Amino acid sequence: MRFEKHVFICTNQRPEGARPSCGEACGLELVKNFKKAIKDAGLADKVRAQRAGCLDACEQGPSMVVYPEGIFYGGVKNADIDEIVREHLLQNRPVERLVLNFSQNDD
Ligand code: FES
Repeated sequence: MRFEKHVFICTNQRPEGARPSCGEACGLELVKNFKKAIKDAGLADKVRAQRAGCLDACEQGPSMVVYPEGIFYGGVKNADIDEIVREHLLQNRPVERLVLNFSQNDD
């Protein structure tokens, strides 16, 4: 397996007046800062962060998802990055206060 985890961060930008969107500028800043935090944590060979299109969690954005767990996070700010990297990416402990729960839609 090339990477143990993938972090997909929404950079989708919709026109004003449409359904809310995470925003390209916001998403790209998060991608850049996640990449740096992952590198600083010594995880560059194991974890990859990258931009993604809409994750269908627009109203809860800025949104991201970590695979293979399929854990979605919402309302992610730059200030949350170190905690997500330290707790989830390093220790496999999802940051519960930011986790989006879609259980009503699960099979
Ligand atoms: S626009 Fe980001 S999840 Fe839809």
